[in-house]
Amino acid sequence: MYEILKHAHSGLRWLVLAFLVWAIINAFSKRRSGADYTAKDKRPALFGLITTHLQLVLGLILYFISPLVSFEEGFMKNTITRFYTIEHLSLMLLAIILITVGYSRAKRKSEDKAKFGSIFTFYLIGLILILLAIPWPFRGLGGGWG
Ligand code: HEM
Repeated sequence: MYEILKHAHSGLRWLVLAFLVWAIINAFSKRRSGADYTAKDKRPALFGLITTHLQLVLGLILYFISPLVSFEEGFMKNTITRFYTIEHLSLMLLAIILITVGYSRAKRKSEDKAKFGSIFTFYLIGLILILLAIPWPFRGLGGGWG
């Protein structure tokens, strides 16, 4: 169970990154060209939202079963337990909140330029936070490539 969830959570990162990059580039170029916001533009934004929320669900389950999450004495002094218990959780939560806000703001705005603007700004900040919070193998935090 733990291994399956860990591999799913690790591999799903690539889908999250791909959809966020797609949504950001699409919003940036369409905003510049003054294009209409159509159902086609909603797709990358919605897929980005769904995959990040899926990561949240998998991450929350992992948080309770992972040996890398610990509240035992001295966990803040250990780079790995501090990372997964505090840093990964808080940065990812913030990123997911920003992406959700960006998506719902875009839905509420009536002007198409404002819809693209909301997706672009909120998704870009979310993506940067996610890139910073991923335990890339070169960071020595026990994470793999997928
Ligand atoms: C878009 C959001 C997220 C992404 C892209 C992401 C990505 C990752 C990656 C790549 C790993 C390393 C897996 C490996 O290589 O073995 C990982 C581990 C982990 N993540 Fe996330 N994560 C996200 C959100 C979350 C959230 C919100 C939580 C907690 C609520 C969470 C909890 C964990 C835990 C506990 C581990 C350690 C698993 C283990 O090896 O025992 N993640 N995450």
